[in-house]
Amino acid sequence: MVQRNGSLAGQIAFVTGGGSGIGRACAMALAQAGAKIVTSDLVMKGAAKTVAAIVAEGGIAEAVCADAADVAQTEAAVDLAVARHGRLDIAINNAGIISAYRLTGDITDEEWARQIAVNLGGVRNAMRFELAVMAKQGSGAIINIASGAGLKGLPGAAAYTAAKHGVLGLTKAAALEYARIGIRINAICPGYIDTPIHAPRTSDGRSRNVTDMVPMGRAGRAEEVADAAVWLASSRASFVTGIALPVDGGYAAG
Ligand SMILES: NC(=O)c1ccc[n+]([C@@H]2O[C@H](COP(=O)([O-])OP(=O)(O)OC[C@H]3O[C@@H](n4cnc5c(N)ncnc54)[C@H](O)[C@@H]3O)[C@@H](O)[C@H]2O)c1
Repeated sequence: MVQRNGSLAGQIAFVTGGGSGIGRACAMALAQAGAKIVTSDLVMKGAAKTVAAIVAEGGIAEAVCADAADVAQTEAAVDLAVARHGRLDIAINNAGIISAYRLTGDITDEEWARQIAVNLGGVRNAMRFELAVMAKQGSGAIINIASGAGLKGLPGAAAYTAAKHGVLGLTKAAALEYARIGIRINAICPGYIDTPIHAPRTSDGRSRNVTDMVPMGRAGRAEEVADAAVWLASSRASFVTGIALPVDGGYAAG
């Protein structure tokens, strides 16, 4: 399906972690551009709220409960999207977590394992099943939500930083592999965006002045990340693959 106007009308999009923050904003923006949405989340209450908001605007959306770190649950979620709509055009691999501020030497085995399993393993799990569908179609756009911590170190979050650097490596390698069969794979590196994800780090007071780190001097909005995701998903970005796009008020420039 080649569309030159950037519209996503009729396209099928799968969004992981669509129950809050950036995932919700992406699901809503894709729906506003005309895509039909299937979104997965660990917390169904949030995902149901996203679906209700899309439906209230006249869109089509459905939520499925799946832990991004779980291969079988992720496969079932992607299968559901394909079973409902017969194809998969867009995937936003967004589900992510951050743990409390902790020096690298103090990270527990459990924290390390979960950060890597969700933030890096979750993207790999989703791509595995998304790519199988898109390769058969010979088309598709995958957008992985990495982080400014995929480009720079984030003190007190070494496991998160390692996972997000990994997401960029995964994105680039896969982009090269699938470039000739019509699948574009890109990453977005959000800077400090105002969402609930920061609660574990800010609760101990050590990360409060994060907006000081942002050249524009303010937190970003989830919708500002979603605008970049819609562009990358659309035919307006038809010659763009393998990039790590900062949406960060200038953070990566420093
Ligand atoms: N907010 C920021 O400043 C910022 C900056 C850079 C990158 N990011 C990345 O953006 C993505 C979204 O973050 P956000 O800020 O919207 O956070 P958020 O906490 O608002 O939303 C995350 C969503 O993912 C879901 N989720 C968490 N673990 C999951 C799992 N194992 N399986 C399925 N769903 C799961 C949560 O239930 C929630 O609905 C994350 O990958 C995060 O690392 C956020």
